[in-house]
Amino acid sequence: MASIYIDNEARQANPKQNLLHACLSLGYDLPYFCWHPALGSVGACRQCAVKQFRNEQDTTGKLVMACMTPAADGTRISITDPEAVVFRAAVIQSLMQNHPHDCPVCDEGGECHLQDMTVMTGHRSRTYSFGKRTFRNQYLGPLVNHEMNRCIQCQRCVRFYREYAGGSDLNAFHLRDTIYFGRHEDGVLENEFSGNLVEVCPTGVFTDATLKRHYARKWDLQMAPSICVHCGLGCNTTVGERYGSLRRVVNRYNHQVNGYFLCDRGRFGYEFVESDLRVRYPLLNGKTTTKGEALERFGALLREGNVLGIGSPRASLEGNFALRTLVGRNHFFGGMSDQELQLTSTMLRILREGSARSPSLDEVEQSDAVFVLGEDVTNVAPIMALRLRQSVRQAPMEIAAKLHIPEWLDQAVREAVQEAKGPLCIASPYATKLDDIATVTYRAAPDDLARLGFAVAHAIDASAPEVPGLLPELEKMAADIASALLGGKNPLVVSGASCRNRSVIEAAAQVAWALCKAGRPAALSFTTPECNSFGLALMEPRPLSEAFRAIESAPASTLIVLENDLFRRAPASVVASLLRGVRHLVVLDHIENATTETAELVLPAGTFVESDGTLVNNEGRAQRFFQAFVPGSDVEESWRWLREGSAAADLKVESEWRSLDDLTSAMAAEIVVFASIPQVAPSQKAIGKIAREPNRYSGRTAMLANISVHESKPPDDPDSALAFSMESDPGKPPPSLNPFFWAPGWNSIQAVNKFQNEIGGPLRGGDPGIRLIEPSSTQSWQYYSVVPEAFRPQQDGWLLVPIFHIFGSEELSRHAQGIAQLAPRPYLALNPMEASLLGVKADEQIKVTVGDSQFELEVVLRADLPRGVAGLPSGLLMIEGITLPAFGKLALTGAAPSARGAA
Ligand code: SF4
Ligand code: SF4
Ligand code: FES
Repeated sequence: MASIYIDNEARQANPKQNLLHACLSLGYDLPYFCWHPALGSVGACRQCAVKQFRNEQDTTGKLVMACMTPAADGTRISITDPEAVVFRAAVIQSLMQNHPHDCPVCDEGGECHLQDMTVMTGHRSRTYSFGKRTFRNQYLGPLVNHEMNRCIQCQRCVRFYREYAGGSDLNAFHLRDTIYFGRHEDGVLENEFSGNLVEVCPTGVFTDATLKRHYARKWDLQMAPSICVHCGLGCNTTVGERYGSLRRVVNRYNHQVNGYFLCDRGRFGYEFVESDLRVRYPLLNGKTTTKGEALERFGALLREGNVLGIGSPRASLEGNFALRTLVGRNHFFGGMSDQELQLTSTMLRILREGSARSPSLDEVEQSDAVFVLGEDVTNVAPIMALRLRQSVRQAPMEIAAKLHIPEWLDQAVREAVQEAKGPLCIASPYATKLDDIATVTYRAAPDDLARLGFAVAHAIDASAPEVPGLLPELEKMAADIASALLGGKNPLVVSGASCRNRSVIEAAAQVAWALCKAGRPAALSFTTPECNSFGLALMEPRPLSEAFRAIESAPASTLIVLENDLFRRAPASVVASLLRGVRHLVVLDHIENATTETAELVLPAGTFVESDGTLVNNEGRAQRFFQAFVPGSDVEESWRWLREGSAAADLKVESEWRSLDDLTSAMAAEIVVFASIPQVAPSQKAIGKIAREPNRYSGRTAMLANISVHESKPPDDPDSALAFSMESDPGKPPPSLNPFFWAPGWNSIQAVNKFQNEIGGPLRGGDPGIRLIEPSSTQSWQYYSVVPEAFRPQQDGWLLVPIFHIFGSEELSRHAQGIAQLAPRPYLALNPMEASLLGVKADEQIKVTVGDSQFELEVVLRADLPRGVAGLPSGLLMIEGITLPAFGKLALTGAAPSARGAA
C-alpha cells in the first residue's frame, strides 16, 4: 500500500490506482464525470481537479486531475484547497451552460450523477444569460430514449458502447464547436448492452424507454434485491415497484457476477410481469374462480392420490422442492427435455468430479487465453460475452506494463496496445458476435466442433485420446489453440448446452482437464440454458420421458406442472398424448401458455418480483431474490400454493412450512448439496428489519386514500428481513439483502461507491451468493475415450441446428413489449450454396419437415453456416418443442419434401 496525504491526513491507498479511485475508496466526496471504474481514466471532463503538493513545504502546489494522477507513495493532495474548489465550480458551470436545467421533467431527475455533482460542487445559479445550444434527438429503438440537450460531453457513452461493449453504431460526431453523441441516423441501437447507457451516462441523455411507459421516481419505488431470470448467469438486479406494478429493473453490483452491467434482455425483459397474458386469478376449467374454491379443488385432487409432479428449470429451488416433497421423490420429474437434463447433468458431473473449476464471471474477465467451444455466448449468456470482451485485453496489458503505463490510464493503454489481443479461439456452428475479437474462428457441425476440442486436448496432453482422420489444417489449428492456452496464466474453456451435443461438452472438459494435468490453473465455464437449470439438476429429478412412460402404463390421477410450458419441452403430439393420460392437470404459472390452456386448474404463481426464492447459476452459485411487493390479486409463490393445497388435503409435512426459512431449512436437511442454502441471505432474526422503501418515499398515506384516508398497516413479510415500509433498523443491510444503493449526496446508481471496500472491488460484507459446487479433490476423472465421427453432409436431409437470439429465444422476456418488437420472425437459415441447390432465395418461403412436424418459414441466407447444415431460431413461437439438432427435409412451398441429395 502507498501512504498518501489528503488534506494533511495520512491515508493508505492502492499504488496501482489513481488518486480519484483512492479518494473515493477512502470515502471522500470528489466530483467526477468521465471516469468510470470499469472504463478507466481519460481526463476529459476536468471535474476531479485537486491541488497536488511536491512535499510538506510546498504551499503553492499545482492543479492536477485526480483521475489522471497515480496514487504513488508520498503523494500530497488537497481536495478542499480554495483554488481546486473554484476550479471545479468553474468546470461544472461551463458544463451546465447549455444544459436545459429540465430536471423536473427529466427521467433521470432524483438519481442523476450530474445533479449530485452539481450540488457537491456548490454550483447553484446560472450566470450565462445567452441562448443555449440545442440538438435534435434520435429514435434509438424501443429500449433507450435520447435527449441530447442534456449532454455534458464526458464521452462515457461512446467509450462504453464502442470500446467496452464492441458496438459500432453509436459515435461522437463533431462539427465546429458542437459534438453530438448518437447514431449516424435514427435507428435501433444494435448492441446487446445498450441499456447500460442509461446508467453509464451521468445525466439524462440516455434513459430507459420502457420505464417511460409507467414512470416513477427512484424515491417513489419500493425496491428489492433480485436475480435476473432470463438466462443462466444470475446477474444481480434491483427491481422497483409503485402502485402494485413493476416499473423497472436496474443493475445491482456484484463484483463476482455482473459487476456494473446488465444485458438488454435482463434489463428490459421484466415487462413480461405486466403482460396482458398474466395469470392473476385461479382458473377452473378456463373460468376465473375464487382462491377458496381453487384450493378446495386442489385439496380434493391431492386427496385422490396418484399425483405426479413436473418441476421447472425456471422455477426457484423452493418451488421445485415443495413440489418434490408434495408428490414424493419418485413421482417428481425434471421439467427439461430429456436431452437438456442429460446435458445439464453431464456439465454438473464434470464440474463436480473433474479437476477444472467453474469460474465466477469476474474470473472469466481475468482469463488471458480463452477457447469457446460450441457456444454463441452473446446470445445465450450475454454478460459473459461482455466479460470475454475484456478478457482479450489481459495479455496485451503486458505491453502497457513494460511501458510503465498503469492499467487505469485507458487511452494511453489503448494507444500502446493498438489492435493487440490475447488469444480468444471460437469454434461454433455459425458466426458469433464475438468473432470480431477472436484470434481463431472455426465453424462446423457440432460433431466436428467436438473433434476439434478433443484434438486440442490431445495436443496439450498426448495421453488424451487422439482424433482419427483429422485434416492437417485442423490438426494445425488444434496445435495453435493448445499452445495459446498453454501460454496463458489463466486459461479458460467455455462451452455449454447450446449445440445440444454431449460430445461438445465432453471435449471442452477434456481440454480443461488436459490443461490442469499440464499444471495450468484452467477454468471451465459452462453456460446453462435457464436461470435455475443447475439448481433443478442438483435435485436429480427423473427424466421427463419417464413421466410420459409412467402415465402411458398407468394413467395418473393428477399431474401438477410447476412454472413450465411442456409444449416447449417436447413435440406437441407427445405432450398432447401425455395430457390425455392424466385425469386432472394442475398448472402453476405466471403467463398463459399452451399448457395452462389445457389445464383443469391454473394457479397464479408469483414471478421473481412477487416471490422469494433461490436460483443456482452457471457457476454453481446459489443466490436469493426477494419479493418487491404484495400483488393486489391472488398471485402468490408457487411453494405457498403447494403448501396451502396440501393443507387443504390434510397432508401434514408441507402444511407445516410457515415461512421461506422453514422451507429452506427442510431443503438443507434433506438434500446434502443444499446444506448451505439457509445462509444465502441472513434471516430477519439475525439482522432485524430492512426497509424496501427509501426514506424519501412519497404519498404513502395518500396512495390508498380512495379506499381509506387512514394509512393502512403495511403487509408483514414472514419470509425475509425486508419490510414493505420505510422503517428500518439502523445500520447498512448486508449485500445479499440490500434493496438499493443510496448514500447521502449520492442519489444515482454510482452510490455503489459507498458500499465497496475498494471502488470496483467486492462489496463490503462480501458479494452475494454461496458456491455449491467445487471440483473434486480426488482426481478421479478419466479422459473421455469416445470421439465422434466427422460430420458428413447427408443425402437425405439437412442437419438443423438451433440459432440463438438474445431477443426471442428466452421464454419469459419475449412477452415484454420492447423485447417482442426486436425478436426475429421464425425463419430457416441456409448457406447460399445450399439455397441455390434448392432454387430458393432470401425471403422466400420454404417448407421444413422435422419428424412429424412441418413448418412454412422464410429463408434467411447465412454464408457462415457449414454445408449440409441449416439453422432454426431457438425457442421462437411456432418452432418450439422440436428437439434439435435433427435431420430435416426442405422443399419449396407447394413441392414435396426433398432429400438433400435430390436437391
Ligand atoms: S451522452 Fe451522456 S455519457 Fe455521452 S457524452 Fe453526453 S453526458 Fe457523457
Ligand atoms: S446476462 Fe443473463 S442473467 Fe445477466 S442480465 Fe442478461 S439475461 Fe439476465
Ligand atoms: S473524472 Fe477526472 S477528468 Fe473527468
